[in-house]
Amino acid sequence: MSDDALFPVELVQPDTHDAGPRLIAPGAVHVPGWLSMEQQRWIVDRFGEWTRGPVPLRAATLPGGHQMSVRTVCLGWHWQPYRYTREATDVNGRPVLDFPDWMVRLGRKAVAAAYAPELAKDASLADLAADYTPDAALVNFYNNAAAMGMHQDKDEHSNAPVVSLSIGDSCVFRFGNTETRTKPYTDVHLRSGDLFVFGGASRFAYHGIPKVHPGTAPADCGLSEGRINITMRVTGLS
Ligand code: SIN
Ligand code: MN
Repeated sequence: MSDDALFPVELVQPDTHDAGPRLIAPGAVHVPGWLSMEQQRWIVDRFGEWTRGPVPLRAATLPGGHQMSVRTVCLGWHWQPYRYTREATDVNGRPVLDFPDWMVRLGRKAVAAAYAPELAKDASLADLAADYTPDAALVNFYNNAAAMGMHQDKDEHSNAPVVSLSIGDSCVFRFGNTETRTKPYTDVHLRSGDLFVFGGASRFAYHGIPKVHPGTAPADCGLSEGRINITMRVTGLS
């Protein structure tokens, strides 16, 4: 074999996805492939149930009149720009679905996985897992054309971490800083089954989804097209 075949001049960008869990910023951890295919399919089945109501999957309308391209159904608390309510007063007035116990357990496991001390490099974060009790989830559906602008998750009255799970098509998740919508940020490739947790110093970082990659969902994830993202949050409301 020639030396240029063995050591190509054009170095291939390493696929960070296959390199395992990664600390993106203090308190922000990406855990690729965290959900099994079986778990993903099971969650996709639950998604089908959630969208049957009482509140349908809907694209929220922002105060300026702009309608989001992402469609959302909520659990525990209904999110509307920019508050949480128990009834979907901006949709059909119906009560939001309960937050499932299995999702509380999953959220706790997610925080424990992401904030394992060797990964998060901050032992105080590891303590957050034991009593992490999310009470709201925004379940987003992205079609091929959907995107989400840079924003902060700041309608919660709590600084507990946000747990994010992705199923279906992969996407670019832009994870920024707490000061501005702009650089510095890191573009993270989120694939089906990935976990991302942001808390601690990154809890109020700007983030968004500039692009979904159509046709990239694995055949056995349960979703033939589009992307589901679940973000669990602690609202701090009662
Ligand atoms: C969000 O920021 O609410 C959604 C993030 C995502 O879709 O991964
Ligand atoms: Mn968000």
